[in-house]
Amino acid sequence: MVDLRDFIAGMPKCELHLHLEGTLEPELKFELAKRNGMSLPYKDAAEMRAAYDFNDLPSFLKIYYEGMKVLVHEPDFYDLTFAYLAKAHAQNVRYAEMFFDPQPHTGRGVPFAVVIRGIRRAQMDAERILGIKSQLIMCFLRDWSAEFAMTTLVQSLPYREWIVGVGLDSDEKNNPPVKFKAVFERARSEGFLLTMHCDVDQQNSTEHIRQCLEEIGVNRIDHGVNVLDSNALIDEVARRRLALTICPVSNAFVTNGSKAKEIKRMLDLGIRATVHSDDPAYFRGYITENFVCTQEEADLGPKDVVQLSRNAFESTWLPRAAKERYLAELDAYAAR
Ligand code: ADE
Ligand code: ZN
Repeated sequence: MVDLRDFIAGMPKCELHLHLEGTLEPELKFELAKRNGMSLPYKDAAEMRAAYDFNDLPSFLKIYYEGMKVLVHEPDFYDLTFAYLAKAHAQNVRYAEMFFDPQPHTGRGVPFAVVIRGIRRAQMDAERILGIKSQLIMCFLRDWSAEFAMTTLVQSLPYREWIVGVGLDSDEKNNPPVKFKAVFERARSEGFLLTMHCDVDQQNSTEHIRQCLEEIGVNRIDHGVNVLDSNALIDEVARRRLALTICPVSNAFVTNGSKAKEIKRMLDLGIRATVHSDDPAYFRGYITENFVCTQEEADLGPKDVVQLSRNAFESTWLPRAAKERYLAELDAYAAR
């Protein structure tokens, strides 16, 4: 009898929905606060963790933005990124596409260059030392103005080669994809690939997904579980083989349940569902825990588990030859 937990833990995996700032563990928060002469309103990491209290997207985001204020200097962004990549490597993640949110940093006076140089240096070191590859996706905050997003896009252009795509995150209420149509058109013209969050069970979720498909022309969607509410969206997403990067442990915090059964339904419908971590330091589940949660709650067999990992490698923003190498490794693992 195969132990599916062990099978999942050892399986070559790929992370496509991961906010770097959401990997900031309380222990590192305390270390950075000390280094930067800041005080935190908790006695220690355990007390801070115990105070994490959220039950929807806005209540989570409030704690998330407050937490990242300890990131000030380039080594802080380096330490954050290297710690995440080491953790991912330990969970057999072979490749990661990681979101970063420049605006909450530049908005409090941290230069864009400080943020991206620290992250980039850690990516290079992690690849050299650990063998884990990664690329960056720059997210714009949808509850801030389109003008600030455009300024940020222009600021990023000197670092164009370090960023594979752009995304849209933060509070979705009253902030539809079309608010950023011009920003995403410009991003596409600069050669960036495009993704956007369509968080789960939001006001107007299906309309936001429709805008992503028809008005923005995204290359994938982050979350997007509410595709299942519309037959037209199901057909379109399946036809385009568009990836939906779903985060079950996060879902259980910010909406009603993990949506693991919805993931299984997507697999059965031929929708390219994938499983990822979102903000693992806050939701307390990295990619292995997200796979285990999905497997247990939807009673997935090994074939479904491998299909989820295959879907993710297929959906990476990598050249075909690189995808094939990862897929061959996954196939060899599954055959054993
Ligand atoms: N920013 C960080 N995590 C997020 C999430 N789950 N949804 C929207 N914005 C985010
Ligand atoms: Zn997310």
